[in-house]
Amino acid sequence: MDMKVNFTETVLRDANQSLVATRMPFSDFEDILPVLDKAGYYSLECWGGATFDSCLRYLNEDPWERLKKIRKSCPNTKLQMLLRGQNLVGYKHYPDDIVRMFVKKSVENGIDIIRIFDALNDIKNIEVAVDETIKSGAVASGAICYTISPIHNLESYVKLAKQMKEIGVNTICLKDMAGILSPKEAYDIVKALKESVNLPIIVHTHNTTGLGYMALLSAVEAGADIIDTAISAYSGGTSQPATETLSYALLELGYDASLDGGALDKIGDFFKEIRLRDFNSGLLNPTVLSTDAKALVYQIPGGMLSNLVSQLSSVNRMDLYEEVLKETPIVRKELGYPPLVTPMSQMVGAQAVANTITGKRYSSVSNEIKSYLKGEYGTPPGEIDEKFRKSILGNEPQINGRYADGLSPAYDKIKSEIGDRAKSPEDILSYALFPEQALSFFDYRDSKEKRVYNYSFAPVKS
Ligand code: CO
Repeated sequence: MDMKVNFTETVLRDANQSLVATRMPFSDFEDILPVLDKAGYYSLECWGGATFDSCLRYLNEDPWERLKKIRKSCPNTKLQMLLRGQNLVGYKHYPDDIVRMFVKKSVENGIDIIRIFDALNDIKNIEVAVDETIKSGAVASGAICYTISPIHNLESYVKLAKQMKEIGVNTICLKDMAGILSPKEAYDIVKALKESVNLPIIVHTHNTTGLGYMALLSAVEAGADIIDTAISAYSGGTSQPATETLSYALLELGYDASLDGGALDKIGDFFKEIRLRDFNSGLLNPTVLSTDAKALVYQIPGGMLSNLVSQLSSVNRMDLYEEVLKETPIVRKELGYPPLVTPMSQMVGAQAVANTITGKRYSSVSNEIKSYLKGEYGTPPGEIDEKFRKSILGNEPQINGRYADGLSPAYDKIKSEIGDRAKSPEDILSYALFPEQALSFFDYRDSKEKRVYNYSFAPVKS
């Protein structure tokens, strides 16, 4: 019997993203990297997701340089990133040549494992990224977005896992971004996945509703091979359950869940100091560390509920809150039950608010919802009523197949557009994904280089 349980440490990516809005600069964790490298993790989730955008937009950091530096300080641990399928680490669908180049460069610069998902669980939107990951020699992990709806069930998750296996993924991750995965569901789904696809199973959840520890324990009992956890100082609440705690509990239960205790202790102490500073500056708001069970009552993610509240209070219509909560599942049903994750959670929520405030359903429809109904985001998980679709789109044509099939190759065009402002293919990719942010980062970098240059010549002159 294989009783080994492996850990993916999320402090540098998901914990960072969930607790401090991805504002942790490289300099915060630089000194602890050699210790993280010795802890015995299966992998260190350290890149992708929102970190790429945040480096360029808020931290004046080159995301590629960050990756290279982590690689250098962690030669012994697998480095992992999160990739939103055809959206990469951005917010729209990119042409295949950009997807392939981005994956290739990620692996070249140090990534060992790429976890790939699509917000609609549409296999077409992860195929190219999975293919290129395998070609580049990295591990492709297919992630299933967990959600609660009348059409999402054991069979649908197993079906998706089998499709993923067919396109060649090396591992399967059950990804619960909202923290609503219960111990029973975790057990049943992991068991079904273990029985139907012979691949390592990973479970990813958040402790938002307090279910996280129980869900991970149940998942391990059902045979999960790897669990995602965060070092205690950055664990809990909207982040992952704590690494040390899970390791302790599982060891006691007889699982081989050992990590280097001394290393974990040092990592925990190190991040406690950073957490204290983030508390004091207000970057880390204590509310995100508390337990919010509302998501269980309404079966929609906590982040979406707070969005609804802020949209309604901004127009002084909090009196409509209960009505909007009733409207939300109806809109979601009409849209074919998309998982309530970015960007669908925002789109469904805004439509429910609009429908309620105007009192005339779909009298105002966002461009995003129109694109979604045209099929630009992929195939919705459930059926959409044809009459409903027509009432919004009229006779506008539907996209058959994959949206990215209609996108022309863009890399060479972007390369000549940016010219010598880009110093490397990595710069070209930064610009392809976040043009404005990349350009202002290049400006910053150039001015910094000049400063260093002047300084180094100063002593010669004197
Ligand atoms: Co997550």
